[in-house]
Amino acid sequence: MKIKIIQQKINKKQKPIINIFARDIDKGLSLKNKALSSKYFYDDKGSKIFQKITQHPDYYLTRKEIEILNKIKSKLPKLFKLDEIDIIELGPGDGSKSKIIIDGFIKYGCFVNYYPIDISLKALKLLNKNFKNNNNLNINGIVSEYFEGLKFVKKLSKNKQLILFLGSNIGNFEREQSIKFMKNIYNNIKNKSYILTGFDLKKDPKKLNKAYNDSSKFTEKFNLNLLSRINKQLKGDFNLNNFIHYGTYNPLLGAMESFLISTKRQTVYIELLNKKYSFECNEPIHLEYSFKFSLKDIEYVAYKTGFKIEYNFLSKDNGFINSLWEK
Ligand SMILES: C[S@@+](CC[C@H](N)C(=O)[O-])C[C@H]1O[C@@H](n2cnc3c(N)ncnc32)[C@H](O)[C@@H]1O
Repeated sequence: MKIKIIQQKINKKQKPIINIFARDIDKGLSLKNKALSSKYFYDDKGSKIFQKITQHPDYYLTRKEIEILNKIKSKLPKLFKLDEIDIIELGPGDGSKSKIIIDGFIKYGCFVNYYPIDISLKALKLLNKNFKNNNNLNINGIVSEYFEGLKFVKKLSKNKQLILFLGSNIGNFEREQSIKFMKNIYNNIKNKSYILTGFDLKKDPKKLNKAYNDSSKFTEKFNLNLLSRINKQLKGDFNLNNFIHYGTYNPLLGAMESFLISTKRQTVYIELLNKKYSFECNEPIHLEYSFKFSLKDIEYVAYKTGFKIEYNFLSKDNGFINSLWEK
């Protein structure tokens, strides 16, 4: 389907994206404990590798969420009872999960205005391939950060809204940040709107470690690709052979954490920043949190943000929840 992709309009008043990327990379590599944001994983190559991770047998999250979405796809339209709906998605990736929900509404006879908001243009191009033309579907894809996009959609959206925040994306935020994030969503959507969020639940760390260290090493490639992106876009000279991927569960935090670890003492030069960064042998760069939740954790976030939990849809193995909240 030919989706309309809106990119320039909302970014034109801002600094060019590449400057923000350069600034954040410099900031992250200058920290005492080096850290880079996981939102920068998703350049063209990163989005494609992520698609492979989601299809890997070790990465149970996608399978479990798809099982739930298939179970609820005809239930949601009956609950909403609408002729037209605005479905706004934060970080849709290739849209294969969103398609399940959207098809459910179309089948029910509801006209769907779909607004996928993703920082990665490549993700929206992959999403394009997943949707066929349909008279009851209008797609406006927005390439931006979540909230810039949401504020932009706010001006266009005329109908009752369903926000999709799937794939346990919420797990990328630290606990307090996730409350702030959901509160921000709450403040930017209409009254009586709904949000459907994917939460990966706390479970046996062996299962978690396997999922985030898949046997085909896609996750390793995915993480190392961030260094390639810096090399390409900022003219860096990272040698990828001098870093290893390390992903592990931290039971005190209740989060998977992933790092790249320098295997030797080395200096990396980034031409566009005109700066050198030194690494000790075994020094880590923190890349990602994937926080896991208990039912109580989910209730706490909903309570702190003002949302009312309408349903908790559980996967058969009780390992994943899609939670539907109402404003
Ligand atoms: C972990 S993937 C999940 C994709 C999909 N929701 C799923 O469940 O498979 C995260 C997606 O969110 C996008 N993303 C990450 N950080 C973002 C941000 N700050 N603003 C907008 N999109 C973001 C990425 O480009 C990517 O497509």
